[in-house]
Amino acid sequence: MPEKILVTAALPYANGPLHLGHLAGAYIPADVYVRYQRLKGSDVIFICGSDEHGVPITIRADAERIAPQEVVDRYHVIMKNSFDRLGIRFDNYSRTSLPLHHRISQDFFLRLYHKGYIREESVRQLYCAACRRFLPDRYIEGECPHCHSPGARGDLCETCGRWLEPEQLINPRCKICGATPEMRETRHWFFRLPEFQKPLEEWQASKKHWKSNVREFSSGWFSEGLTDRSITRDIDWGIPVPLEGAAGKVLYVWFDAPIGYISSTVEWSQKQNQPELWRRYWCDPQTRLIHFIGKDNIVFHAIVWPAMLMAHGEFILPDNIPANEFLTIEGKKLSTSRNWAVWVDDYLAVFPPDPLRYYLSANAPENKDADFAWKDFQTHNNSELADVLGNLINRSLAFVEKHFEAKVPAAGELSGEDRAILGAAEQATREIGASLEDFQVRAAVGQLMDLARKGNKYFNDTAPWTTLKTDRSRCGTTLNTTLQLEAALAVLMEPFLPFSAERLWNMLNLPGSVHDRLWYETPKLRLEEYHPLGKKEILFQKIEDPIIEAQIAKLRGAS
Ligand code: 2FM
Ligand code: ZN
Repeated sequence: MPEKILVTAALPYANGPLHLGHLAGAYIPADVYVRYQRLKGSDVIFICGSDEHGVPITIRADAERIAPQEVVDRYHVIMKNSFDRLGIRFDNYSRTSLPLHHRISQDFFLRLYHKGYIREESVRQLYCAACRRFLPDRYIEGECPHCHSPGARGDLCETCGRWLEPEQLINPRCKICGATPEMRETRHWFFRLPEFQKPLEEWQASKKHWKSNVREFSSGWFSEGLTDRSITRDIDWGIPVPLEGAAGKVLYVWFDAPIGYISSTVEWSQKQNQPELWRRYWCDPQTRLIHFIGKDNIVFHAIVWPAMLMAHGEFILPDNIPANEFLTIEGKKLSTSRNWAVWVDDYLAVFPPDPLRYYLSANAPENKDADFAWKDFQTHNNSELADVLGNLINRSLAFVEKHFEAKVPAAGELSGEDRAILGAAEQATREIGASLEDFQVRAAVGQLMDLARKGNKYFNDTAPWTTLKTDRSRCGTTLNTTLQLEAALAVLMEPFLPFSAERLWNMLNLPGSVHDRLWYETPKLRLEEYHPLGKKEILFQKIEDPIIEAQIAKLRGAS
């Protein structure tokens, strides 16, 4: 039985276009992992969608003086399109404003409510009399009670990273009009998180294979002691609380967003005309549920969401939560408000997707923050993709075209060197697979490039340009071996460089698509003798200095 895996990537807020921080945090590692699992023949589905509720959306709508629906309609399409162009191939990309998601979230809430895991309480909250509204966390700004920096939000101080309650802020101000808000009584619903502290701790104790950032973060929360979490808000954009007398109250976005993983899977089943198919994943303990996220999402995925799932009782719990650290841009913290960001569509207007996928894999913020620097991107593109991988392919195919009528030369008896490079491909297949099983995309892409380096060394050492004159059969064997290596490389490249892998597949004139291959059959993949090759192209173009300098100037000019 193939392994059953349900992979999700954090639902991005539909309040702006995608930037490289999004990609490095969750989407590239998730897509690489899923592509590898597909090649392995696993029963894997990749689920995502736009997160269309919450204050991030209403703040953007207020700023643009448009309705929240207009905001999400716009950015849902923009993000979906960017994902497509990057080759991030979800099985379903849904959106949380769908009636289907509203219904599933309300049912989820009601089930927890009827099981006694949700309680109601009157609380005092900041209210802006000038705006005549309660102010959710992000609508309040003030001085941080811990580090005293100004501009801390009602939920978080971005300077010291501490989570806050709005009433803790010193000198709070309404973010919309600047007035000083007052305390007023309002009713809210709270999820009894402390009931799940013990089961959560026991469950996480069995997750020794999780990344240390997730484990350490969780144990910090456990030792502070979990507290009830408010799961409703006084705003007019979101999913109505499905209770009598709750008019005007909506579910907190962090309550409904992870339920979006389920509703997106349900939508996927409906699109397959198998409306119950989603249960095969969500309700089967054999399924491995894997949530790819950025580190700012850890608490929700490692604590609150698993507790919600425990409270619900019908669904599986996450098997792993590979959370990446942050990506800085040219040494500085990424900031969308200050436009210190590289936007995916701006990137794609100038460059193809694969070099970015490669760079964000080779330089992934896996265990610590990583920096995106345009010069470094250029170096990785030019001296690795173009000079190592591209060069091996280009010079060997050119050689075969020129001296062997663009057909795979016959192989004579294999030498030790020939066998060694084919053995290296076999070993790389195992090593890259093992790294990816362990969510180590950075190591995996390094192993891929090492294999290409070995291929170049093999080509140099066996010097077919010399044997062409002295021993044509040996020369043919070298080229045959190099082409077998390249067929393997096409498959091994696919998770990281899917567009280039397909192009290489076509250049080798192999049948079907590289996506249809099986990972562990890669070493057995054989190009027949005299098999005609396809049309040769340059796989990776070098990027010239002025192109990179223009990008740096653009970033600095915009900051
Ligand atoms: O941080 C964010 O961008 C959130 N929209 C992530 C939500 S993840 C999930 F729970 F849906
Ligand atoms: Zn106000």
